Amino acid sequence: MGVRRVRSSSQQAFCGTAVKVISAYSIKGGVGKTSAAVNLAYLSALEGARTLVWDLDANSTATRLFGQQAGTKTHGRRLMFSDAELSDVVARTHYANLDIVPGDMRHRILDAYLDRGISKAHRRLDTLLAPLAADYDCVVLDCPPGISVLAENVFYASDVLLVPIVPTTLSVRAFDLLTKYVHEEQRKDRLRDISTMAFFSMVDRRKQLHNSFVEVLPEERTGVLGTVIPVAPEIEQMRTRHAPLHAFAPASRAAAAYEELWHEVKLRMGNNWMGMAIAGVR
Ligand SMILES: Nc1ncnc2c1ncn2[C@@H]1O[C@H](COP(=O)(O)OP(=O)(O)OP(=O)(O)O)[C@@H](O)[C@H]1O
Ligand SMILES: [Mg+2]
Repeated sequence: MGVRRVRSSSQQAFCGTAVKVISAYSIKGGVGKTSAAVNLAYLSALEGARTLVWDLDANSTATRLFGQQAGTKTHGRRLMFSDAELSDVVARTHYANLDIVPGDMRHRILDAYLDRGISKAHRRLDTLLAPLAADYDCVVLDCPPGISVLAENVFYASDVLLVPIVPTTLSVRAFDLLTKYVHEEQRKDRLRDISTMAFFSMVDRRKQLHNSFVEVLPEERTGVLGTVIPVAPEIEQMRTRHAPLHAFAPASRAAAAYEELWHEVKLRMGNNWMGMAIAGVR
């Protein structure tokens, strides 16, 4: 894979603007990407940041968790291959400051389309986001698992790759591979200075193995945040409630954990994001 950040000044670009793009991403499936994307987007909007969620997964789980309908069949294809604008498919959610590009079954085959030698295929997401740079403060991408042309698009467009790690050796290895890949691309000047941040997901404190991962890993790896998202029934209930956690269980331990995660992500982003004077620790 190779993504180049070099572009002529006439090209419209989203990356590098004041908007922060945070992508819930992992090579692995079922690790808590969508749960994090939905809850952090909700918290961002709650703070007054104009927030857009783009549900890039064909399963459209994030879309349903916001109580929205998946997009029509043609949306995904039109967005990738015609001159359609992203703003054509942006929908309002029930929540203030929070819009969504609904998921779409067509996303399932996006990779196949993007892989057919389309010129600058890795920039398509970034190009589509460009006209919305003035409309949002924060964009959250909820990504399907896997490494693919769509993932390249995500890397190219992101400021932050937010990676859930369930406390297993395989998860940690997958995170290490991703970090290595990002560093190599940056060293070759093919990717800008994106931050790769991992957080612990689905942690069961009754398990010794989970506890030892949580204690040791943040000290061993700079990209691993201290926040721990516990295994919690309220997080599963998001699926039946069709709502972000804070909309129905704001006082839960799990809600507090996502608040802590959001705070830690903002701290790491630094840059006086949203005008908030947060000391950067990057
Ligand atoms: N901390 C948690 N405690 C309990 N259940 C959780 C937790 N986090 C996620 N889940 C549940 O695990 C399942 C997978 O979570 P989620 O959809 O967030 O993962 P994902 O990485 O987006 O999955 P996919 O790769 O399929 O898109 C869901 O049923 C969700 O409700
Ligand atoms: Mg998901």
